[in-house]
Parts: sequence; C-alpha cells; structure tokens
Amino acid sequence: VSISNSVASTQANAFPADVLVALEGSGTRGLRAQLEHELRAAVQDGRLAPGTRLPPSRTLALDLGVSRTVVVEAYGHLVGDGYLEARQGSGTRVRPGAAGAASRAEPRVEPAPIARFIGGLPDPARFPRREWQRHYRAALDALPDRELAYPGPHGAVALRTALSRYLRRVRGVVSDPQRMLVTTGFTQALVLTCRALRARGVGAMAVEDPCFGFHRHAIEAAGVRAVPVAVDEHGIDVDRLGELSVGAVLVAPAHSYPSGAVLSPARRGRLIAWARRCDALIVEDDYDAEFRYDRTAVGALQGLAPDRVAYAGCASKTLSPALRLGWIAPPDWLVDDLVREKVFDDMGTALLEQLALARLIESGGFTRHLRRVRPVYRRRRDVALEAIAAFLPGATATGVEAGLHVCVALPRDCDEQQLVDAAREKGVLVEGGAWHWADQDSAPPSLVIGYGPASEPAIRRGISVLGAIYRESPSGWRPRG
Ligand SMILES: Cc1ncc(COP(=O)(O)O)c(C=O)c1O
Repeated sequence: VSISNSVASTQANAFPADVLVALEGSGTRGLRAQLEHELRAAVQDGRLAPGTRLPPSRTLALDLGVSRTVVVEAYGHLVGDGYLEARQGSGTRVRPGAAGAASRAEPRVEPAPIARFIGGLPDPARFPRREWQRHYRAALDALPDRELAYPGPHGAVALRTALSRYLRRVRGVVSDPQRMLVTTGFTQALVLTCRALRARGVGAMAVEDPCFGFHRHAIEAAGVRAVPVAVDEHGIDVDRLGELSVGAVLVAPAHSYPSGAVLSPARRGRLIAWARRCDALIVEDDYDAEFRYDRTAVGALQGLAPDRVAYAGCASKTLSPALRLGWIAPPDWLVDDLVREKVFDDMGTALLEQLALARLIESGGFTRHLRRVRPVYRRRRDVALEAIAAFLPGATATGVEAGLHVCVALPRDCDEQQLVDAAREKGVLVEGGAWHWADQDSAPPSLVIGYGPASEPAIRRGISVLGAIYRESPSGWRPRG
C-alpha cells in the first residue's frame, strides 16, 4: 500500500495535506496498527487539529487500498484512547482537547518518513507470527516443570540438533550438536570468541575493511585489537594476513558487509592455508547467506576446515533481530572456552525462544518462510538497483545479488554526510557507509541502502529523493566516463 495524501483533496476542510499516511506490508492487524500510529502522531504533533473531521472510513480505506475493517478498527481504537470522537451523523473528528495543544504552537516540520533504509534488516511485517506463536505455545505446553530452569550454557539440545541438521544440509557445515552453542545473536558469538581468544593470549584479530562497524567496536571492547585488511570484489586480501601478527580473522565469505563481495575460491583456499600455517582461527560470519538471489550461496568455509573455522550465524536476518538468537559451531579445541565465557556472560539463552525455533526448523516452517520471503526481497533489490541507475547517475551499486542491503559507491566529490543529513530532513533515513571503515576520514563516500523492510514504492520514492538532493548539491552528480 503506497503513500497517499489524496484524502486531503477529497475532504474539503477535513484532512490537512501534510498528513501523509504511509502503510506498508500486509495483514489487517499490521496495517491497522500502522494507520493508528500515523493518525495518533498527527494528532499529537498538531497536524490534525481538534475538531478536524476525518474522512469516512470507506473513503479512506479506498484511498489507501486497504479493507474498511482496517480503518474502522483504527478509528475505534483512537476513539477509545480519547484522540478521536465519533458522533452519530457527523462522522469522526479529532476530539477537542486531544493531545497536541502544546505542539500546535510549534508545528513539527519533520515530515513523515518516506523510506527507512537503515541497516540490513528483514521486513517485520513478514515475521511468521502465527507459526511462531503456534510453536512457542507447543514448546511451552510440552515443557515439563523441572525444565523451567536455567537453560544451560550450550543451549537447548533440540535447537542444536535442528541447527546441526539444517546447517549441514543447507550450508555444508560439519558439526554435531555437542559442539554447538546457542547464543543471543551473532554479536554475542563474536564477543565470546574474542574473550576466549584473549584468555589464550591472542591480542589481535584481522577484520575486513570495510566490515560492519559495530562488530569492529565489539571486538575492541572485548579487549582484542581489530586490524583492518582491505576488501575488494574478491573478498578480503588474504595475502596481507601473512604480513600481520594476528591470531584470528573475522570474515563474511558468503557476503561481505557492507560491500557485498564474495570470497573467491582461490582466496578461500589461501585463507585456510594461512590459518593452518599460523595456528590461527577464522571466525565465519554467515549472517545472511539464505538470501542469495541468482544462485545458491557458496557453501560455508567451515565445511572445508572445521578444525580452523568457528562458524556463526543468527536468526536476525531470516526471522527477526528481536528474537536475539544466534549460534556458533567452533573447532573442538575452542568449545570449552566458549562455554565458560557464555556462563559468565548470561548463564544461557532464553529457553522458550530456542525451543520455538527448533520446532519451526524441524517442521519445515523455517524453509517455507524463506521460500516465501526470498522473492519479495529479490524484487525489492531489483527495484532498488533500477532506482539507483535511474536517479543516482555516477553512483555504483557493489556486490553480488544477495542479502537485504545494497552498498552504493558515490562519486568521489560527493559529501556523504551532507547527503545523509539532507535525506533525513526530507524523510529518507539512510545510512552512510563511512562508519564501516576503519579510517572514516579516508573512507570513499557511499551509502548502505537497506531495502529489506521497505515497500517497492517506498524504495523508488526514497531513492528518487536521494537523487533530487544530490542533483541540487553544490557539486551535483557527475556521471562517470
Ligand atoms: C555483518 C553482520 N553480521 C551479523 C549481524 C547480526 O548480528 P546479531 O545476530 O547479533 O543481530 C549483523 C547485523 O546487522 C551484521 O550486519
């Protein structure tokens, strides 16, 4: 459902033109909640003044392309909350005295967001709520009282078993459940690994440059120096590792973040050889390998060298980061150290979530979910690439056809921060790429466009707004060549 403000023109003296209602996704409940949120915000910040008449539910529903129930329920909730009042014969109005009196004197200039491109997140509206609820409830029902206790640092056997089967089949990971640990996401797996390595005397870990900036900070916060190593279109510069004094490296071989590069077969071999030669650990970040659109993803590196690679993944991209679920399949020699770190960190991951995920995977629901959402994200990516080509001449989308984000290299003379700030002012939330580089000051200007949660119209509009801003910028786009 796309953005609409045409209700403004159909209702004289009713809906001010700056009340944009942006509805994305599907499902009566999700749409109703979004509409309610937008209307409540408009009353709170004074865009909808007390006494303003709202469009009849039928008109607004038609305009937004949603069922009338969505609008009726949203109005009903807001009447219940005291924001609106419904009078027989005269429709629905903003209640006199409803919130917003203070802010009306100082109307908010910030427009409703046109597009949110932040982070490589999945679409929350696509979370399989019903299935999750069903599996969560079944897990709780089946759980004996005595197991409502500390879950243990390794994680639930049911989930480790399900993961070990699934990852072997889909990613070529070689691990048995006894050697796996469940964590509260990839980030925890990384931090625990750093602590375990530091306790063994490892003081430095090589990281891709650029890599997810937050993880570089997490490594340093765990007491390990993060040493940047350049990434090109074939992945990390493996040969550079031999010149460094590091005991580990963090890589995302299937889809480097944010560049989108895949580690080439030749470099995969040389990376493993380096780790064997130097007695080093490779931490494999397999965060979004399920989303490869042109072919199946390259298999996990871990399958080639389970003695040297700690394989780690998460549910943050496939399902939701809200779950805080991840896992790690480390080499045998690291298992006990990680268990120790996990105990000290949090005494184990929340049990019921683990059991629900185990059931989702074992029932085939996880694979079905991925089959449902993959084409959605693929289309969103295609729309993003088309819009980048149309509206951002001179910019280059990098990386393979995969994931929930696309990295856009901007012309050298473009001021990344200015573009990001101006876009925010116009309601387009987008992330600059600089903070993913070790040296932000010399980072080439880029944007990371997370298209996962945005609808196709929002992607198109958001990128067209970015293009308009750039064209008006002092230097302007300068098409290459
Ligand atoms: C490169 C990369 N790896 C992994 C993750 C997921 O981390 P977590 O599982 O802790 O949410 C992210 C999240 O943004 C990421 O960007």
